[in-house]
Amino acid sequence: MENIREIRSFVRRNSRTTDAQRRALQHFWSQYGIDYQEQILDLNAEFQRTAPKHIEIGFGRGDALHYFACHYPECDFLGIDIHLPGAGRLLQQLSDDALSNVRVMTEDAVKILTHCIAPNSIERFYVLFPDPWPKKRHLKRRLIQADFVALIASRLKVNGEFYLATDWEDYAYQMLNVLEANACFQNKLAPRCFLPRWRVDRPLTKFEQRGQRLGHGVWDLCYVKREKNWVEK
Ligand SMILES: C[S@@+](CC[C@H](N)C(=O)[O-])C[C@H]1O[C@@H](n2cnc3c(N)ncnc32)[C@H](O)[C@@H]1O
Repeated sequence: MENIREIRSFVRRNSRTTDAQRRALQHFWSQYGIDYQEQILDLNAEFQRTAPKHIEIGFGRGDALHYFACHYPECDFLGIDIHLPGAGRLLQQLSDDALSNVRVMTEDAVKILTHCIAPNSIERFYVLFPDPWPKKRHLKRRLIQADFVALIASRLKVNGEFYLATDWEDYAYQMLNVLEANACFQNKLAPRCFLPRWRVDRPLTKFEQRGQRLGHGVWDLCYVKREKNWVEK
């Protein structure tokens, strides 16, 4: 993992945290936040129940995470993003709706998955509209690369699912190629197929909306983790 840990998929910007977001972080972090430590988390203990665990990486301002938490109360959700204003906004929404099935971490997802998430423990991952890093010299910063996908595979349970979406066509094919090349994963629809948007239960996020304004398309993918002893026939 050293390579992708040195070249990060994000830049910590000094984007303004509003007073309301700062207050939400102060008031609700003890309820929803998990401080990063280099040790495996006991997620059932965190949520005080045994339930399927889903992780969204790069939740931004939390549109999808909030939606998932409301629509799937039988599942627990861990949101990971380094963007503090977005985390503040999300925490306020979680509190307003008295949701108890979400926790938030604000560290690099690679560090969190590597050190805090037990192997074979997660039912589902989402990476929705990750930073596209469209300039050629920045392509190496893209999150969806072979090492990262292998890390996701290692943390998923067998038959667990990995949902991805992007509004950048070349990134969509990069995702497709990287996922198809990983023998742990099977395309949920059919080899090399994108999922029709209507088949994915997710809300319109800020970055999907931005893509629409720019006239971009949208590409959704879902991969399922195969059984351990799967052999290609
Ligand atoms: C383009 S935004 C998309 C936000 C949201 N999913 C949406 O659709 O509106 C990508 C987000 O991923 C976060 N991100 C990128 N790399 C990350 C990493 N390694 N760990 C945690 N968050 C990351 C960024 O901070 C940013 O908020």
